[in-house]
Amino acid sequence: MAPDALVRLQKVSKVFPGGIVGLEAVDLDIAPGEFLTLLGPSGCGKTTSLRVIAGFESPTGGNVLLEGRDITGLRPFERPVNTVFQDYALFPHMDVAANVGFGLSLRKLTSAEQVKRVRDALDMVGLADKLRARVSELSGGQRQRVALARAIVCEPRVLLLDEPLSALDAHLREQMQIELKRLQARLGTTFVMVTHDQTEALSISDRIVVMNKGRIEQTAAPATLYDRPATRFVASFIGTMNLLQSRFIGRDGERLRFAAGELPLEATSDNGDTPAAGDTRTIGVRPEDLLAAGEAAEGTAPARVSGVVFHGRTLRLHAELGQGTPIVIDAPRRADGSQFGVGDVAHISLRRGANCPVLSN
Ligand SMILES: Nc1ncnc2c1ncn2[C@@H]1O[C@H](COP(=O)(O)OP(=O)(O)O)[C@@H](O)[C@H]1O
Ligand SMILES: [Mg+2]
Repeated sequence: MAPDALVRLQKVSKVFPGGIVGLEAVDLDIAPGEFLTLLGPSGCGKTTSLRVIAGFESPTGGNVLLEGRDITGLRPFERPVNTVFQDYALFPHMDVAANVGFGLSLRKLTSAEQVKRVRDALDMVGLADKLRARVSELSGGQRQRVALARAIVCEPRVLLLDEPLSALDAHLREQMQIELKRLQARLGTTFVMVTHDQTEALSISDRIVVMNKGRIEQTAAPATLYDRPATRFVASFIGTMNLLQSRFIGRDGERLRFAAGELPLEATSDNGDTPAAGDTRTIGVRPEDLLAAGEAAEGTAPARVSGVVFHGRTLRLHAELGQGTPIVIDAPRRADGSQFGVGDVAHISLRRGANCPVLSN
C-alpha cells in the first residue's frame, strides 16, 4: 500500500440482501490529514462507503485497513473513527454539554478531564457560551456545530461526515463550508465527507472521489477533476461540459487535433490513447472555452442560436452546430448591448490554448 495511507479500502464490495449492489470492488487510499469528499448522485454508494469505514456495515468482500492494519472485523467503538450524521442524531432535551460529553462517557476519563474536553470542543466550533443551552433551543447552524463538537471531542483519527450541511439554507451552508475547512486545518484530522453537491465538494476538498453505481469513476484534486475529467460521467457531473463526437485528424506533439463536424478542436489524453486518423472520440469542451463571433473565419463553425440565458457577466448561448449537434457557449456580455439573439448564426471556435479532455465511457 502507499506508505502514507491512513485508511485503505481494498477491493471493498457490499451486496445487500436481495442482491442490491452498494459497493463494487472499491479501492481507495485516504491520506493522513486530508479533506476527502465522496461525491456522486443519490444511491451511488457514498453512505455505504462511510458506514464500512466506521464499522456500521461489514463488507461482503475486501478489507478495510488503518495504517496497514486490517480492521475489517473491528466493531465501531474499537475504531478511532467518529461520524457526524446527516440528521445530527442529537438528544433534543439534553443540554449542549451533555450531548457533546455523551461520546466521552464510554472512556475512562476523570470528570474534570471530561469537562475540559467538552469545553475545548465547543470552543473549537464557536459555541463556548452555549454549554448549558438545550439543543431544542438552538438554530440549525448551532445544532450542526454541536454535532461536530460531539464528534471531535473523542479526538478521532478520522472524522466521517455524511451530508453534514444538507439541512442548512444556502447562505449558512456556504459559511459553514468555510468553517468546516478551517476546523479541519486547525485539528489536522482526516475528514471524509459525503455530498451530492458538486459546488460544495469543489470548494471544500483537497481531493474528491467521484462515485457512480457503487464504483469510483475518478479520484483527483478539484482543479484536476474540472480540467481533466477522465470519463463522460465525471465530465457531465462536474460543471457544464459539451460532449462532442469528434473525428481524429492528426497529432501535433502532445496535442491531438480533432473536428466535431466543422469545428476544429485540440485535445490531450491522459490515458495514452493513440487514435488513428478518422477514429471518433468524445471530446469534452467547456462553454467558457468556446468563442462566438458574428463573422465566419478560419477555424470557426456556424451554429444557430436557439436560446440565450443571462448568467451575470456572461450570456449562455444554446446553439446547434451542423447535423443538429447541441452546443453551449459562454459569451461575455458586450458593453454596447449588441449580442446574439435567438435565430442568429454564431461562428464558434475553440479559445486559443484551451485544453479539452478526451473522455472514456
Ligand atoms: N440497508 C440496505 N439494504 C438494502 N439496500 C441498501 C441498504 N443501504 C443502502 N442500500 C442500497 O445501496 C445503494 C447505495 O446506497 P447509499 O450508500 O446509501 O447511497 P448514497 O449515500 O450515495 O445515496 C443504493 O442502491 C441503496 O438503495
Ligand atoms: Mg447517502
